[in-house]
Amino acid sequence: MTDLIRFLMCAPDHYDVDYVINPWMEGNIHKSSRDRAVEQWHKLHHIIKEHAIVDLVPPQKGWPDMVFTANAGLVLGNTVVISRFYHKERQGEEPHFKEWFLNQGFIVHELPKDLPFEGAGDALLDREGRYLWAGYGFRSELDSHPLLAKWLDIEVISLRLIDDRFYHLDTCFCPLTGGYLLYYPPAFDSYSNHLIEMRVPSEKRIVVQEPDAVNFACNAVNINQNIIMNKVSEQLKSNLTNAGFNVIETPLTEFLKAGGAAKCLTLRVTEPVMPERSATVQVESRVVRMEGHLLDSGLINQALDLIVEGGGSFKVLNFNLGEQRQSTSLAEVKVSAPSHEIMEEIMSQLIEIGALVPTEDVQDAKLEPVEKNGVAPDDFYVTTIYPTEVRVKGQWIRLQNQRMDGAIAITETENGIQAKCKILRDLEVGEQVVVDVVGIRTIRKTESREKRNTEEFSFMSAGVSSERRVELVVEQVAWELRQIRDRGGKVVVTAGPVVIHTGGGSHLSHLIREGYVQGLLGGNAIAVHDIEQSMMGTSLGVDMKRGVAVHGGHRHHLKVINAVRRHGSIAKAVEAGLITKGVMYECVKNNVPFALAGSIRDDGPLPDTQMDLIKAQEEYGELLRGAEMILMLSTMLHSIGVGNMTPSGVKMVCVDINPAVVTKLSDRGSVESVGVVTDVGLFLSLLVSQLDKLTRPYSLAEG
Ligand code: ARG
Repeated sequence: MTDLIRFLMCAPDHYDVDYVINPWMEGNIHKSSRDRAVEQWHKLHHIIKEHAIVDLVPPQKGWPDMVFTANAGLVLGNTVVISRFYHKERQGEEPHFKEWFLNQGFIVHELPKDLPFEGAGDALLDREGRYLWAGYGFRSELDSHPLLAKWLDIEVISLRLIDDRFYHLDTCFCPLTGGYLLYYPPAFDSYSNHLIEMRVPSEKRIVVQEPDAVNFACNAVNINQNIIMNKVSEQLKSNLTNAGFNVIETPLTEFLKAGGAAKCLTLRVTEPVMPERSATVQVESRVVRMEGHLLDSGLINQALDLIVEGGGSFKVLNFNLGEQRQSTSLAEVKVSAPSHEIMEEIMSQLIEIGALVPTEDVQDAKLEPVEKNGVAPDDFYVTTIYPTEVRVKGQWIRLQNQRMDGAIAITETENGIQAKCKILRDLEVGEQVVVDVVGIRTIRKTESREKRNTEEFSFMSAGVSSERRVELVVEQVAWELRQIRDRGGKVVVTAGPVVIHTGGGSHLSHLIREGYVQGLLGGNAIAVHDIEQSMMGTSLGVDMKRGVAVHGGHRHHLKVINAVRRHGSIAKAVEAGLITKGVMYECVKNNVPFALAGSIRDDGPLPDTQMDLIKAQEEYGELLRGAEMILMLSTMLHSIGVGNMTPSGVKMVCVDINPAVVTKLSDRGSVESVGVVTDVGLFLSLLVSQLDKLTRPYSLAEG
């Protein structure tokens, strides 16, 4: 039986660490001892010969890594797929390995020149021969997997490597006799771990801990019940023994310096073909196009990063660089993903940043009917803040009511086809909803550097502004507010009670009085504390002038709520002369509409507070319609709610003392949102004085 098993090895005559192509080689150039390497290799050779036949391929001068025959190619039956090395440092090995296989009578398959795949280093057969585990992420390209499936007629399971110390699959993964698996899970992304767990039952998974993993414990040669490996821990040895294996240790320190051990130094060239297999592979690919100031705006990097981070891989098919600063670039990128779900996830993110499907591949969007009111079909496309178009019956239709986290509902009337962004609960039976990610495009302008620098909100594109920049932001916001007011535009403020506690109430009142605010959104609390302050001079029982708690002050806000409830509404309380100043007073007096959304912790509430949340969201939506700018003042809850309802293009300024809130909100990936980490009372006071400055008669002295 054993004499039927053959391995290919290559004597270490020319072995050395001559260059660095993996992290293990770093700092080890010419540091491995020749004598020791030769001795260790011969020991390994000897052990393997006790269990199998060893064939030798002649070593070649100038190709020091040729000892690692695992990377010669991938064998199954009488077929071999020859490696295409990722690094030029090893590409010279290819013809020598090819010659050896041809001489042995193998059917040789060669991958395209630019499609890296590093043989049995990155592709390991299940020991029962049922499928092929194939790695990608560092050396081998995901796009090689479909070809392996085709040529070897076997199911391929693609696993993504994410830790560069484990750059080849065989450094962290070793299928064993009897369906066992020796592996180091952190070397893989979570999707891949999930795939592994689906195929290998937990009692057959032998997990290696990091100290053994970095000693290349997974880089083991398995011949029936024998496992030949570098020195490992007692714990791992006993785990293997308990699973019925015989562990044979042999030192391979000199090869570790090049990033290899027992398995890398061998290639099993007898891999019997199992009868019931068939080629299947999940890998999918699609081509997308991106146009615009791709480099200037960093968009191309962003796109490629999100493909890789999402678990896919890419190939840039074309890149036409815009030559002048004002001209745009065009890129065509082939995206591959190990499954349909991953492809969809990546595509929807690419669409979000403006990627297009090339015209010749454009298809109509896939539609599925709403079967239950308020429920979308499973695979529905989730909308973003960016203007979106959907292709129905060959025409591109612009979505109405663009907002985040909605579904796209398509209706056909005599006026033609309509596409609307709808929140789930509003979907109705009879509507068609867009599923999947085909036939959808997002319109995103990528700004050129010049444009970004001259746009008013340009300085804000960097996201969160530091304390030093607060004044600059205030100047810009004041300028913007003034312009919007003068052209009769719309600014909406969403504010939390902190505005009142920090003494910002009088400044916000001023803004409303002067016509800078066209709508106010908040909760019960801001109104209560504002009215408490105007009626009793305290905010949550604290004297606003002296900053000290007033005796019995904690009951103030309830008295206030009660008084307003007696009048029936805030407006009536204002008319009756109960409320004579403050934010709510100014709203009533200046006909600025407001919406107060209730929550579980509300006391009272005030009669104006909308405790039906669905209605409250609708009221918010109503007031936000047509807004050009939104000031978000110290309220995470209401700001996030507002952010989700707002399409891109609306300028948002988020002010909060907590950087996390600001980051969250200014993270819309659009130039028009800006965060300011500062005390909101201070911000408002600076804003008011800046606006006053703009209103003062022009004086030459100011320059
Ligand atoms: N220095 C070689 C490289 O980086 C080591 C190859 C190890 N081989 C393996 N199958 N893991 O390519």
